[in-house]
Amino acid sequence: MIELDSVTKTYTLGQQRIVAVNNVSLTIQPGEFVAIRGESGCGKTTLLGLIGGLDRPDKGTISMNGEEISQLADADLTRYRRDQVGIIFQFFNLIPILTVAENVALPHSLQGKSEREIEARVHELLSDVGLVERQTHYPHEISGGEMQRVAIARALINQPQLVLADEPTGNLDSRTGHQVMETMARLSDRHHITFILATHSSEAASYATRTLYMRDGSLSSGET
Ligand SMILES: Nc1ncnc2c1ncn2[C@@H]1O[C@H](COP(=O)(O)OP(=O)(O)O)[C@@H](O)[C@H]1O
Ligand SMILES: [Mg+2]
Repeated sequence: MIELDSVTKTYTLGQQRIVAVNNVSLTIQPGEFVAIRGESGCGKTTLLGLIGGLDRPDKGTISMNGEEISQLADADLTRYRRDQVGIIFQFFNLIPILTVAENVALPHSLQGKSEREIEARVHELLSDVGLVERQTHYPHEISGGEMQRVAIARALINQPQLVLADEPTGNLDSRTGHQVMETMARLSDRHHITFILATHSSEAASYATRTLYMRDGSLSSGET
């Protein structure tokens, strides 16, 4: 379970202070698929970054299964990010000189598992996202929707408890976006993984089990 209590994050640019996340409190149950919807600039990416331990709040607390991640030492925060969180980005962020299978394996191989273990896990994930036939292809040889499904498989390689997806359909056409969202919803359901989706798209958010609305750094449960 993830709990945010009165979380605030402010950026300072010269004289200007921008309250990107403003006093946000939120509880997410294991296996939930939560969409955070809002216009560009409302604070979605900042909020995901705080939950994923990429950044720390100025105020408030964030805890995962009772452990306060906002208080972890740097090394422990790095471990939390690596072991418990998977991230999916708008622009896929695949490595162009690595094959599909190598991209999926990358976060895993950094942890010193055996070749065979990694191969089996990569195969299982690629079959989950329907891309076994593409495993020896390079990113430039597959479509945008396929790239995003590779990124989903990569995000799951370390069996994270939590997957964060930041505008995952933002660079895809509508039909492909639906396929990508369907894949995420299915995996969340089947493996009981908690997904948090940040999106401006009502279509993408429709795959979530719960939608929250964000505006000027604040969250609400209804559309305003
Ligand atoms: N690193 C940063 N430094 C200064 N301001 C930032 C930074 N990142 C985001 N912001 C500002 O914080 C606000 C929220 O941004 P962001 O979290 O990226 O929103 P969203 O993902 O909803 O578009 C915006 O006003 C943005 O300009
Ligand atoms: Mg963003």
